[in-house]
Amino acid sequence: MFSAEDIREDFPVLEHIIYLDNAATALSPRQVVEAQSDAEYHYRANVGRGVHRLGRMATHKFEESRETLLRFFGGEAGTLAFTRNTTESTNIIARGLDWKPTDRIIVPLQEHHSNILPWFRLESEGRIAGVDVIGGTDGHIRAEDIEAAITKDTRMVAVGHASNVFGTIAPVKEIAGICREHDILLLVDGAQTAPHLPVNLADLGCDYFCFSGHKMMGPMGIGGLWIKDGAPTPAPAYAGGGMVGIVSGHTFSTAAGAGKFEAGTPNVIGAVGLAEAARYLTRLGMENVAAHSSALAHRMIDGLLEIEGVNVTTPSDTPLVGAVSFTVDGVHPHEVAYFLDEAAAIMVRSGEHCCQPLMQKIAPAGGGTVRASVYCYNTEDDVDLLVATVEEIAHMVK
Ligand code: ALA
Repeated sequence: MFSAEDIREDFPVLEHIIYLDNAATALSPRQVVEAQSDAEYHYRANVGRGVHRLGRMATHKFEESRETLLRFFGGEAGTLAFTRNTTESTNIIARGLDWKPTDRIIVPLQEHHSNILPWFRLESEGRIAGVDVIGGTDGHIRAEDIEAAITKDTRMVAVGHASNVFGTIAPVKEIAGICREHDILLLVDGAQTAPHLPVNLADLGCDYFCFSGHKMMGPMGIGGLWIKDGAPTPAPAYAGGGMVGIVSGHTFSTAAGAGKFEAGTPNVIGAVGLAEAARYLTRLGMENVAAHSSALAHRMIDGLLEIEGVNVTTPSDTPLVGAVSFTVDGVHPHEVAYFLDEAAAIMVRSGEHCCQPLMQKIAPAGGGTVRASVYCYNTEDDVDLLVATVEEIAHMVK
């Protein structure tokens, strides 16, 4: 098991603040920043185009980064396209598959906007018959709820691997089994699990896996869309340089593999940084990261539950990816977040967390929740300071 204390020096800003907004974005360690600087200084060039030595080097590093990520996720039996983030990945699938007007998509209520709005948009455009929103507000996605919602027209289930509000983990393997049985596609939004859980795509059983680099300590503006071998391939969202096979008259064929989704100059430096982040996480061990995040989240819940006037929204009876949502009676979530920063230099997120459909149910008066989210460099002291400061806030309004 790694020690959070030992790796904190890789994240210089931690000298000054307590960072508990990891579900929004993680900090990047020196090693990732240095890998990007090295690429900028020594092999910044376009990829897959020229034949000069710098171009060959950049192309090699870019493709090597893709291989690193494929190994990291156990996704060798599939294609990994670099995208900007999870949102771009879900949108590529939504815009690119050949939907039929009778198709239906099942989505849990608690999903992030990036895994709910692309499907609502298909519905409002009449490209599919409808979106079936399932599940409740307790943070748990149940495979049986998904199975019960399946009809002969269900074409896809789109599910978050872990909730960015509750930190709870969905039973994706079980859901994948149900989808296979009914011949339904399964898209997994892995934004919150790629940083925290050992993900083995060969075992998970989904057709599409979407993730963001910045939440797993990589750079912002780089993420991925993984497509299982044999799953329907979406049409590329963009046409242009790099994604093309042969142009013939006014028509063209597309490049083979991931290249068809990477029109224009890709984020080569970002890919190199993201691969370095995957190597950093591999050294820590994803099983260890998962255990560390869940243990700290539970310590936080235990502390918060002791405070009168604090309502913990995250369930305490299940492993967590490190995010805990709560509210304080009589204090707006933004005020709580502001006070945590002013009083103790603790950074948390407050508000609707890009989950308005869920928030309209669990916080109908508006304001959403406060969310504190931990990662590998957070310590028990960080969590205890958060709990003590929330207690101070709760006492102030008693
Ligand atoms: N998706 C990010 C969050 O949940 C931004 O905070």
